Amino acid sequence: MKSELQKTLDLEEVAFSHIPVLSQEVITGLAIRPGGNYLDLTVGGGGHSRLILEVAEDVKITAVDQDTDALTAAQQNLAEFGERVNFIHSNFANYAFPANTYDGILADLGVSSYHLDQPERGFSFRNAANLDMRMNQQQSLTAADVINDWDEKELADIFFKYGEERLSRRIARRIVEKRPFQTTTELADAIAYSVPPKYRHGRIHPATRVFQALRIVVNDELKVLETLIEKAPLALVPGGRMVIISFHSLEDRLVKHGLRNSPMLKVLTKKPIIAGEEEISQNVRSRSAKLRIAERVLEV
Ligand SMILES: C[S@@+](CC[C@H](N)C(=O)[O-])C[C@H]1O[C@@H](n2cnc3c(N)ncnc32)[C@H](O)[C@@H]1O
Repeated sequence: MKSELQKTLDLEEVAFSHIPVLSQEVITGLAIRPGGNYLDLTVGGGGHSRLILEVAEDVKITAVDQDTDALTAAQQNLAEFGERVNFIHSNFANYAFPANTYDGILADLGVSSYHLDQPERGFSFRNAANLDMRMNQQQSLTAADVINDWDEKELADIFFKYGEERLSRRIARRIVEKRPFQTTTELADAIAYSVPPKYRHGRIHPATRVFQALRIVVNDELKVLETLIEKAPLALVPGGRMVIISFHSLEDRLVKHGLRNSPMLKVLTKKPIIAGEEEISQNVRSRSAKLRIAERVLEV
């Protein structure tokens, strides 16, 4: 059986859609109300924020993203809403969550279509590009630093842990023998030649899992998610909702346990909400999306 992570990884192979995932479920989950104050921690191209702004009158949004390109795109997309949207460039883990402020908080995790559509950002091996993978261009650590400087054991460990790559040791050994690497395609080719032919010609490119692992490490994705779940509930008003959409099993596990263990939250989704056949047929990214909802309790 294919793991959730693997399903996500397959998306490398396809053109990305700009349609916000599980949009109706996000609106219902946040219980948007007129005059409400919402926090979109991953505004991306502004798809979900636009829906929130349209669904009820006088709604206000604080829109956060760590990627300046995404913020520029969102500013253009949401220009007509003027001062109802306040844009903030920040990693959501560093956002100064103001206490008792928001009626709803949304996080739609991971990279956006903008990242994958721009070869120069180095997230994909479909085109030759520098090994970058930073969502925040101001950060110094890049995928090239990890691949060229980390020792063999560290590489094998991250490929196994964050990529669920069972040939992690073999691939790490090959990388260390052949490095330095400069581009995404050089690295992907080296990985392809380090695995048995059967694996090389499988359904997904043999570099897919390693690229996923690198992306998680470069952007410290699991750590920042933990911080978000720890800090964000305080920023909700009592009865306010938190909606998180994750795209692979490592993230979803953190979300599930984090929401359940927060003394400030009551979980409203026993099982994660997933996309239906129709949405999946229109938006392939929704295929691996899992949405969980929690509500701030009245008294802690
Ligand atoms: C999947 S996209 C969001 C798409 C958006 N919901 C829409 O409908 O257009 C995820 C966005 O979150 C941003 N992001 C990911 N991790 C982040 C973090 N730790 N802090 C701030 N932004 C982050 C990415 O830069 C990306 O633009």
